[in-house]
Amino acid sequence: MPTPKSADAKKPDDCLIVIFGASGDLTKRKLVPALHYLWKNGQAPEKFAILGVSRSKYTDKAYRDEAYDFADKEYESRADFDDFASRLYYEAADSTKSEGWPAIKERICEIQKKHELGANVLFYLSMAPQFFEPIIVQIGSQGMVTEGRKFCTIDTHEPPWQRIVVEKPFGSDPKSAVHLNNVLAQVFDEDEIYRIDHYLGKELVQNLMVLRFANSMFEPIWNHRYVDHVQITASESVGVEGRGSYYDGPAGGSLRDMVQSHLLQVASIVAMEPPITLDASDVRTEKIKVFKALRVPEPEDVPNIAVRGQYGDGSVNHREVTAYREEEGVDPNSQTDTFAAVKFHVDTWRWGNTPFYLRSGKAMAQKKTEIVVYLKPTPHKLFREQARQFRPNQILISVQPNPGIRLRFEGKVPGTGMSIKDVVMDFDYEDQWKVEPPDGYAILLYDCLRGDQTNYKHRDEIESSWDACQPILDYWAENPQDDLPNYNAGTWGPSAADVMMAKDGRYWRND
Ligand SMILES: NC(=O)c1ccc[n+]([C@@H]2O[C@H](COP(=O)([O-])OP(=O)(O)OC[C@H]3O[C@@H](n4cnc5c(N)ncnc54)[C@H](OP(=O)(O)O)[C@@H]3O)[C@@H](O)[C@H]2O)c1
Repeated sequence: MPTPKSADAKKPDDCLIVIFGASGDLTKRKLVPALHYLWKNGQAPEKFAILGVSRSKYTDKAYRDEAYDFADKEYESRADFDDFASRLYYEAADSTKSEGWPAIKERICEIQKKHELGANVLFYLSMAPQFFEPIIVQIGSQGMVTEGRKFCTIDTHEPPWQRIVVEKPFGSDPKSAVHLNNVLAQVFDEDEIYRIDHYLGKELVQNLMVLRFANSMFEPIWNHRYVDHVQITASESVGVEGRGSYYDGPAGGSLRDMVQSHLLQVASIVAMEPPITLDASDVRTEKIKVFKALRVPEPEDVPNIAVRGQYGDGSVNHREVTAYREEEGVDPNSQTDTFAAVKFHVDTWRWGNTPFYLRSGKAMAQKKTEIVVYLKPTPHKLFREQARQFRPNQILISVQPNPGIRLRFEGKVPGTGMSIKDVVMDFDYEDQWKVEPPDGYAILLYDCLRGDQTNYKHRDEIESSWDACQPILDYWAENPQDDLPNYNAGTWGPSAADVMMAKDGRYWRND
């Protein structure tokens, strides 16, 4: 399938991209392929180079060979890839310690000179979160960020920039998130900090703003008067699959890993007011208002608004799944939630009393990510005799699989008399555009290279989303649950999540 081109022709500035954690999974599987994609599509800077840094020993050649293993061979000849890879370098060093830095700095200077890149540098922290702070401190103390460049630089029109992309998880609670933000602020200005959330790079998530603000038919009903509730689901059919120690440790479960970050980000785009312009600061101002309006639950509310789950064994798509507590690296008595469902409220004029139900889980019946806006029933039931039960009208934004936007409403069954059935109007993304969407990392890296922070998180968004989730985490920590595991792999999670919905007269969309 061909790949789509961006309508925006402005090329990013020339720069060096330094990736810390270059031997890791994310760099090899996502970041280098994303940069390769941008280069192939003419969206990379005119002049650029990539320096990968981690402790494992590679020569430049060995690293380039390994990078080719991750390239999309269907569209890529080795010769083409080598052209891109001639800009790819590797330095074996420990970037968390000052001893590692003389070699890193020497390599940076050498590559900048060789490729005539100037002083623009994009640092990417693709490391486990405990290494974020030591590397940021090193970047600062090694003088890698040009101090005072905004005011003292000779060319004030185009001063060089240094930016940093910080991976997830961003903190593990409100205090650690604030601390990390403060550490970053000591070295970088807020407009140079790119807190990445790859959900914000997904095509259908980006389409949400277009759906809402480029059309006149949705916005009039996009409020508490017409919307009954919103459901956002991100379910995975696989379990932790060998990454038990990460999931039971730094990732810290479904609420921390998924709901606090990705799902609340998606919810903020559903809930935000129209921004004044599409400038990053205008868009982020509106998102921040949503985060600030998130109702922070009281401890006594938690049992009514939040459900945690943990999978036992079972099977998904005829594949046996080992129970979470039996995975290597997982505490056999672990209380970590592999499923979380939370009812949030956004206390604004627009959303007064309209719940946002967010859920995410591992080892579930299906892999899907979707946003469903459920509309309220008609005020007068004119067709009550024709249909015993109407399904609510739904606006379904399917992120994956089958990306697209679907409207579900009632229609007349053909024939004499009046019989009614729900029907679906379908905008199928791939059918419509005949293109394969680029990976979210390519979209987001392109933005960052052009200095566009729209789809990156502001510190206030992160700190407020932690504030809304922490009371739930505290309650769960103080009240261990003795029925875990409470759902079988291959199901839709614990029955308590259905009970929470049923009490509100609602149900999860499990189609
Ligand atoms: N993988 C994904 O799909 C994915 C998706 C979303 C977000 N993320 C986030 O991206 C980041 C990287 O994830 P990953 O999956 O790529 O991790 P990973 O495979 O474990 O790689 C981590 C990197 O850290 C380096 N490292 C490990 N221990 C170190 C130490 N003591 N001192 C210095 N360097 C050390 C490793 O290189 P050496 O051992 O060679 O030094 C490696 O390059 C994490 O924050 C993760 O949450 C990952």
